[in-house]
Amino acid sequence: MGGLYIRGAQIVTMNDREDILFGDVRIENDRIVHVGTPVAPQPDDRIIEAAGKVLIPGLIQTHIHLCQTLFRGQADDLELLDWLSKRIWPLEAAHDEESVYYSALLGLGELIRSGTTAIVDMETVHHTDYAFQAMAQSGIRAISGKVMMDFGTEVPLALREQTQDSVDESVRLLEKWHGYANGRLQYAFCPRFVISCTEELLLQVRERSRHYGVKVHTHASENRKEIEIVEAQRGKRNIAYLAHLGLTSPDLILAHCIWLDEEEKEILRRDRVKVSHCPGSNLKLASGIAAIPELLTRDIALSLGADGAPCNNNLDMFHEMRLASHIQKVQHGPRTMEAKTVFRMATRGGAEVMGLERDIGSIEPGKKADLVLLDLNDYHTYPSAQVDIYGRLVYSATRADVVMTIIDGRVVMENGVVLTLDKATVLREANRSIERLLRRLPDIC
Ligand code: GUN
Ligand code: FE
Repeated sequence: MGGLYIRGAQIVTMNDREDILFGDVRIENDRIVHVGTPVAPQPDDRIIEAAGKVLIPGLIQTHIHLCQTLFRGQADDLELLDWLSKRIWPLEAAHDEESVYYSALLGLGELIRSGTTAIVDMETVHHTDYAFQAMAQSGIRAISGKVMMDFGTEVPLALREQTQDSVDESVRLLEKWHGYANGRLQYAFCPRFVISCTEELLLQVRERSRHYGVKVHTHASENRKEIEIVEAQRGKRNIAYLAHLGLTSPDLILAHCIWLDEEEKEILRRDRVKVSHCPGSNLKLASGIAAIPELLTRDIALSLGADGAPCNNNLDMFHEMRLASHIQKVQHGPRTMEAKTVFRMATRGGAEVMGLERDIGSIEPGKKADLVLLDLNDYHTYPSAQVDIYGRLVYSATRADVVMTIIDGRVVMENGVVLTLDKATVLREANRSIERLLRRLPDIC
């Protein structure tokens, strides 16, 4: 089979030297084999003419809930714990196999269309096979798992699990999906957050994740009430409690990390825990602003994510990048979180958080071909002369500028069309599904 030959782009490599090149990229199967000066394409290569366009590493979002995409606009203007108990948990409890599938496809269409090539995703309690099926079909690279929750009075009965059932179902899914599609899909254990999990469940997650060598993904220290409840229930602050259980390690990916004390920041650094910063969600749920510049100075691996559609309400990495920068500048001054730092978080940072830094996050020979082509020849992105490319990408570009998305060496989006999905069907079934779930709600609450 022929490869892909991308000719003449401005290449933002994000390699160790952060080289910006004008040249060509050749892809064979799922890997980049050449970056830089023109070489002879192979006779059956597909040539992609990219002169005047910008080639970047695929964007990486490390905290997404595909199962919540259908709930976009159904839970506006609430703070986290009300948002969960009044709207999100009842809606998740109403999910069926088909609605999980279309919720995932809707989110995946949005992500791939806008240049996100890899995600860390947290599903709901049930029907997670259908989300994995959607991820497999879409072509995305993902680490995902069913959410685990076996504790909490406000949790609808349909979501409240027996501890052992939660672990057994996670292991069943792991054995089926971990490594699927040329390793494009991986499994992670996803306890929801401390206050919806028993200590027994968290200890089993520690044991099983170590046994299988997979990641653990959870929410932590997102909301003030959440950390107060943790402290009242468990006698420790949130991160200190996770450390006490032996869960803090380089394989732990924590979403949010807003409300941390000095000891907890030190635990994150010491145990090389990975952090996913979600500025859009943190602002809309009025959760707070994470101390990202400080965490960066402590050398903690940091990345970005949109979180779920009902707390953002988009899954748009360009929007997250801009917010990540601007919300810090108003507090710490204009030099904080400059464009290159943010772009690094969106690419190499994401790869490190996923444990995939050898495979993705930069454009280099030997790496997986997860690439995004942008056309910045428009009013809102000009002038192009004498302008820093990172500033153009983070402060001016929008998701509408993405013209091609390549994942694992395969073109999955071209000229605005996601080639792996049927858009009309996804939009129609998304509407049908949310209407069905909303009709079910009165029986759940
Ligand atoms: N904490 C526990 N569950 C959730 C969730 O679904 N979304 C967010 N943002 N925070 C959570
Ligand atoms: Fe979340």
